[in-house]
Order: sequence, then structure tokens, then C-alpha cells
Amino acid sequence: MLVVKIGGSLEGAQPLVQDLAHHDGELIVVHGGGPRIGAELAARGFETRFEAGLRVTPPEQMAVVEQVLTLLGKELADRLSKLGRLAVGLSGRDARLLRAEPLDERLGRVGRITAVNTSLLFALMSRHLTPVISPIASSADGPLNVNADEVAGAVAGCLGEPLVYLTDVPGVLADPADPESRIPVLDGAEARARIEDGTIAGGMVPKVRSALAALEFGAPWVMIAPGEAGSLPRLLSGKLGTRIVPEKISREV
Ligand SMILES: Nc1ncnc2c1ncn2[C@@H]1O[C@H](COP(=O)(O)OP(=O)(O)O)[C@@H](O)[C@H]1O
Ligand SMILES: [Mg+2]
Repeated sequence: MLVVKIGGSLEGAQPLVQDLAHHDGELIVVHGGGPRIGAELAARGFETRFEAGLRVTPPEQMAVVEQVLTLLGKELADRLSKLGRLAVGLSGRDARLLRAEPLDERLGRVGRITAVNTSLLFALMSRHLTPVISPIASSADGPLNVNADEVAGAVAGCLGEPLVYLTDVPGVLADPADPESRIPVLDGAEARARIEDGTIAGGMVPKVRSALAALEFGAPWVMIAPGEAGSLPRLLSGKLGTRIVPEKISREV
């Protein structure tokens, strides 16, 4: 089994969806929606603000965020289904799939995952249905917007299954402006130092943080890789993306 998170920026990437559809094995897909949410909020006159890579979600923006993410999930499920991989678009509000609590009142309706209904995922997969998860969670007082990277990390961690973040860069870069500066293996200490000094910034922060959390929780391995055609099959060769590990072991000869 593999948990794959696809970034909102990869929305139109048909070859990637084909790869997912043809993947040999069980899949759980989690998707983001940043660009389309941003466009929809702007069209309705809302302003967007991020803090440490998380979208600040004032209560009056929550309905737009949920509508866009739900629609994106249904579209992705439809595309996978048409390519022969029958998929079901779910949000965390279905059957208590994702439960959350508010992360920080200054962020508005942003949540932190507290529980994942893994039986729902197993029930679907036992019928050869691929869950496609929109990152909206259920809470005691209404829906919460959870960063999709965190949802993917929580799902992979709970299931103890590997996790791949597919995004719009070649991996974690030592210099975000230089696509050639991919870091092949990134450990927890270096990740924290690079978040601290700002070389890991923006949307890469929740990705790296939730990758480390997923490993701590039980995911056997986590990769951050480019969402290109052929990425999925090439991942494990180490020629692509960044593998996140808790600690690096140095080999001495
Ligand atoms: N050190 C870094 N290496 C790679 N990307 C980085 C780094 N620091 C910041 N980023 C930014 O993080 C972005 C990926 O996060 P995000 O935009 O949230 O994508 P996604 O939709 O896949 O979640 C990259 O496009 C890049 O602009
Ligand atoms: Mg992101």
C-alpha cells in the first residue's frame, strides 16, 4: 500500500493521474488545492494569508475552501475512475474519516488531526476502491481546514504505510532558487536547522514537518518528489526526490 499526496499545483497533470491510475497496488490519495482555493477566494474578494506554510482560514472563508477542495476531490476520483481505477472522493467529514481540533485561534478554522477512521479506508480498499481524500476534517464545532500534507502524514502514520509527497519541485532543495540543488536524503536535525534558517520555507515547511511526524508515528519511509510522469516508478531508485529520514547514519570504511 502507498499513500500519495498530490499538491494543488499538480491539478492539471494528466500523465501523473495516469501513473496513479496504473499503479500496481493499493493506493490512498490525498490532494491539496492551494492555487484553485486562492483563485476562488480572490474572485470573491477575500484576501489570502499564510503562516509557516499554512493557509489562515477566517470562518467566513471556510465554505469556499471546503467547496473547492470537495470539488477537486470529486474531479480527481472521476478521472482515476475513468482510467480504470475506481476511486471514491471523500472528505474527512465522511464517516468521521478525519477528526481534528483547532490548531491555533489566530489561524481561524485551521485544524490539527486527532483521529483517522482507518476502517473506512480498509473497507473501501477491500472492495478495490481507491480512497481520494480532501483535507477537510470534522470537529466538535464544524469543519476545519487541515493542511493536506498533514492529512497525508497522519493517514500514512496511522496505517504504518509509506508516503510520497508529489509536488512542483524536484525535492527539498538546498537552494530553493536552484532546481539542481536537490537534497537526496534529509534527516530530522538538518530539516529543523533548514526550517530555522529559512532555506526550507513556505509550503515545504508543513511537508517536511509532517514527513517527520509520519515517520515518528509509524510510516516506514517518506519521499518528497516531483509530480511528473514516471515519478512513481522511479522513486525508489534514489535518483529522484528527497527521502526524509529521522537520523542519518554515516558509513565509515
Ligand atoms: N528548500 C526548498 N526546497 C524546495 N521547495 C521549497 C523550499 N523552500 C520553499 N519551497 C517552496 O515549497 C513549494 C512546495 O510547496 P507547496 O507550494 O505547498 O506545494 P504543494 O501544492 O505540493 O503542497 C515549492 O514550490 C517551493 O516554492
Ligand atoms: Mg502545500
